[in-house]
Amino acid sequence: MTRKVCVIGWPVTHSRSPLIHNHWIAEYRIPDARYEPMAVKPEDAAATIRDLPKLGFVGANVTVPHKETAFAALDRHDAVARRLKAVNTIVTTAKGLEGRNTDGYGFIANLKDRAAGWKASRGPAVLLGAGGAARAIAAALEDEGAPEIRIVNRTPARAEALAADLGLKAARIFAETDVASALDGAALLVNTTTLGMKGESDVDLDLAPLPKDALVSDIVYTPLETGLLCRAREAGHEIVDGLGMLLHQAVPGFEAWFGVRPEVTEQLRKLVLADIAKH
Ligand code: ATR
Repeated sequence: MTRKVCVIGWPVTHSRSPLIHNHWIAEYRIPDARYEPMAVKPEDAAATIRDLPKLGFVGANVTVPHKETAFAALDRHDAVARRLKAVNTIVTTAKGLEGRNTDGYGFIANLKDRAAGWKASRGPAVLLGAGGAARAIAAALEDEGAPEIRIVNRTPARAEALAADLGLKAARIFAETDVASALDGAALLVNTTTLGMKGESDVDLDLAPLPKDALVSDIVYTPLETGLLCRAREAGHEIVDGLGMLLHQAVPGFEAWFGVRPEVTEQLRKLVLADIAKH
């Protein structure tokens, strides 16, 4: 019997999940496995997710704009998905479909992979942005032992809601005009906004108040080195690009569906980069 998995999104053509998972299916010679994109309109998302087993799927990834719908459509979740109220990975378990969220795991695994010896406990983390990605990252950083999460957002009310919804124990909210205070004494700076993406304006902030030993990362990976990462590198900071978060968030799902824990290799990075260069 073919083990079918899909990625559900709207639109879904931009998703690199089929490329990543089909690479691993071939690399680990998983027999009778298939991973395919599935474009699902918002109004059909909940029903499609509940019907996944009937449609012949053993699991799925969920991407924008369906992550919250997927959470609501499922009645079983792991602790991270329950905390974020968003699901990016669906797994068939003995008790039925379970929603999980591996975005924060992917973020942390990427930093550990690319910045040798990095530890969240080193000092306060500054997040630019307060959207869905910021939620996953804030929760993961707290779980990893970050002593303080500082959130800088254009709309401070969204940052307040993020901290309250997640029940963050040590969160501080800063207005954009007060970003210098947020950077003061920080050990990590992460851009979780869409700023810096091809066609968008760059993150515009003065890095001078950030300690020189602070790590700087970006979840934007088109371009791989965003304007923020370029300026941070020039200022002497260690930097980590956002591509690895995409690759690492895929690992737990593949392991759950196919029973093999796949490796994020340089070859996989190159494969995805080549695909990005084509579009
Ligand atoms: P995602 O789920 O991918 O994180 P999102 O929920 O749309 O995306 O969040 C996007 C983030 O980028 C938000 O923090 C948003 O700020 P607001 O909460 O004020 O909307 C931020 N963002 C997007 N465009 C921006 C811009 N031009 N300037 C500043 N922040 C911006």
